[in-house]
Amino acid sequence: MDLQFTRHRRLRQSANMRALVRENHLRTDDLIYPIFVAEGNDIKREISSMPGIYNLSLDHLEEEMNEVVALGIKSVLLFGIPLEKDECGQQAYHDHGIVQEATRLIKAKYPEVLVIADTCLCEYTSHGHCGLIEGDQVLNDASLELLVQTAVSQAKAGADIIAPSNMMDGFVTAIRAGLDEAGFENIPIMSYAVKYASAFYGPFRDAADSTPQFGDRKAYQMDPANRMEALREAESDLMEGADFLIVKPGMPYLDIVRDVKNHFNLPLAIYNVSGEYSMVKAAAQNGWIDEQRIVMEMLTGMKRAGCDLIITYHAKDAARWLKEQI
Ligand code: PBG
Repeated sequence: MDLQFTRHRRLRQSANMRALVRENHLRTDDLIYPIFVAEGNDIKREISSMPGIYNLSLDHLEEEMNEVVALGIKSVLLFGIPLEKDECGQQAYHDHGIVQEATRLIKAKYPEVLVIADTCLCEYTSHGHCGLIEGDQVLNDASLELLVQTAVSQAKAGADIIAPSNMMDGFVTAIRAGLDEAGFENIPIMSYAVKYASAFYGPFRDAADSTPQFGDRKAYQMDPANRMEALREAESDLMEGADFLIVKPGMPYLDIVRDVKNHFNLPLAIYNVSGEYSMVKAAAQNGWIDEQRIVMEMLTGMKRAGCDLIITYHAKDAARWLKEQI
């Protein structure tokens, strides 16, 4: 028989051959680890829907940071859980708010670690929305002022990067102007440019106690059915001065990651969100999947889709597995 075909298997013969032709690599440097810091004392509360992830008070933050640093993770993303919430989310922009204090603590003990502050109001407002409300509306322009105050107070506390996740229009322009005016022209903005109104945020809202008390976020976060709109969102944030773009959630939106990567020349992060993490953990705890292989395949797939950075609750595990591979 004289058959004509291509022998793709030549390049798959051995581990070393496969390593030689491997196109994408996950690195510990790519990983950003989210941490939930809670106001109060001696709090180390595991989030029931997110095994392995905790609400931590400042007195437990150091042990967490020691672990993060020992694993070689260089960036953390901070979310705050205040003791008191109110209509205007005052604890978000209080100079001694929980994220501000956690930032000071981390920068004092681990100056080289990059602290990224999530800039939003939903963890701090009694109604759970990401901006100010009037009736059943979330106000855009009035919310911007409070978000600018939040970003500036985070920068004052020592945050290295500001990451606004609120999805108000104009937040990048407003925050850039506010930071510049306060003398923080060198602090980059990592914009949650493309953020969908997703059910995958469910476990996060347990963790941050930030479920909207009425309605939903569909009037400010994006419709999961839309693709062109993602490019419009990314474009406006780039024009407004964003230094990084984020696409969120991760797994079901890899097409969007590739689109944004192809169109814009900014470092691109993907947010592998809480619900994605919970699904993997639940299946792993049932013994239905091989957690390590699934997580590494997912994170590598995100790199292949085109992101440069990955915000993930799996960061510590992934960093450990990457270390073991060497
Ligand atoms: C704040 C914010 C949310 C997440 C990150 N920043 C929640 C939301 O928009 O409801 C979700 C992250 C996750 O699910 O892991 N607006």
